[in-house]
Amino acid sequence: MSNILVFNGSPRKNGDTAKLLGSLLDQLKGQEIHVVETYRAKISPCVDCRCCWEKPFCAISDDMQQVYQWIQEADWIILASPVHFDEVSGSLLQVMSRLQLYWMARQKRGEELLPEKIRRGAALLAAGGPGKAQAAQDMTKRLLHCMGASDVCIIHCKNTDRIAVEDNAAVLRQLKELAERINYTI
Ligand SMILES: Cc1cc2nc3c(=O)[nH]c(=O)nc-3n(C[C@H](O)[C@H](O)[C@H](O)COP(=O)(O)O)c2cc1C
Repeated sequence: MSNILVFNGSPRKNGDTAKLLGSLLDQLKGQEIHVVETYRAKISPCVDCRCCWEKPFCAISDDMQQVYQWIQEADWIILASPVHFDEVSGSLLQVMSRLQLYWMARQKRGEELLPEKIRRGAALLAAGGPGKAQAAQDMTKRLLHCMGASDVCIIHCKNTDRIAVEDNAAVLRQLKELAERINYTI
């Protein structure tokens, strides 16, 4: 069984990102899954207090403290977001700003706060148009790497303005393949 941590950066409870995630999660068997809804979680953005320049923890006492624990335990980390102005949503970026803790530990003190283990990453992007959303793709890879996830797979569901997620056969196939990979991760 794998530990799976999901960040959903969509403001829409039943929107396109939620449909992508729903399709993936429905196909997972017997996995431990934690979902962080960034628009609804009580997680403040990093305020650059610089505690983590010196100490191996974040000084802000909110729901992110639990999420740090889930990041430690995760075998798979999934970032799901609508594309906003070619990027992931601002709300997801706000939560992700709290990863500064890991960045500063590595940069300032040469410390690795995350346990050494194989952690895999995936990104699900919902976009209204046909563009590449290169910034969002690059950002998800960067954020997943910051959480120690390598081997990142990106599923980019384009043209949601014209094609409903549930009618996008190519994307549904990719989600099925990803679910199979997760189910067979030892
Ligand atoms: C503020 C805002 C900015 C957007 N920018 C883009 C964009 O740059 N490229 C794109 O393809 N779609 C863009 N869209 C459309 C959304 O990505 C698309 O509707 C998506 O499927 C919504 O997912 P959701 O239902 O999970 O929120 C934007 C939507 C909003 C609200």
